[in-house]
Amino acid sequence: MIASPKPISASRSVLTEMLFPGDTNYHGTMFGGTLMQYIDKIATIAAMRHCHMPVVTVSQDSLDFLSPIRVGEAFELEACVTWTHRSSMEIYCVVRAEDLFTGERRLTVTAFSTFVALGEDGKSAPVPGVYPETEEERLLHESARTRYEQRQLRRSQRYSSTDGRDK
Ligand SMILES: CC(C)(COP(=O)(O)OP(=O)(O)OC[C@H]1O[C@@H](n2cnc3c(N)ncnc32)[C@H](O)[C@@H]1OP(=O)(O)O)[C@@H](O)C(=O)NCCC(=O)NCCS
Repeated sequence: MIASPKPISASRSVLTEMLFPGDTNYHGTMFGGTLMQYIDKIATIAAMRHCHMPVVTVSQDSLDFLSPIRVGEAFELEACVTWTHRSSMEIYCVVRAEDLFTGERRLTVTAFSTFVALGEDGKSAPVPGVYPETEEERLLHESARTRYEQRQLRRSQRYSSTDGRDK
């Protein structure tokens, strides 16, 4: 039985870290691939908080780097499930950097990921619905169907129905 719909806030997940030199690129700012790993991880937590099932990433369709993160700055990731279909969930992730000496905070990344819940048979399985409570959540929720349809269109144009299936 599928659980009742849940508020977007129930899946809200936050992670705060500090940038050390080992995670930088040759510009001395945060390496994008490392940040993408953090985004995938926080999005996994948000998705599992929502459905309480194993999940896999199926798509990362939008990831915008808006400003760099410098060594010694804190960065905070925040993610939540904004929309669900049958077995898929859209996760919105925002990353903010913070200069700990001045307190200045700035938006550094926004990303939309799609995750799918898996049943015990390893196949995609139904997830509970999700509903917004705030104005910001409502905007994300209402625009999600269009993003879902764009993903489906891109998927059908790019891959045949047998791509990815074991032969
Ligand atoms: C997830 C997976 C099991 C789904 O396989 P499937 O059941 O044959 O796929 P379906 O076509 O029935 O799609 C299931 C759901 O995934 C969604 N989906 C699958 N691929 C997608 C993509 N590239 N983008 C967006 N949504 C996608 C479908 O829209 C569908 O959503 P819905 O149930 O909410 O309508 C399979 O695609 C897979 O294993 N992918 C690899 C995942 C992975 O290894 N990730 C990296 C490590 S976590």
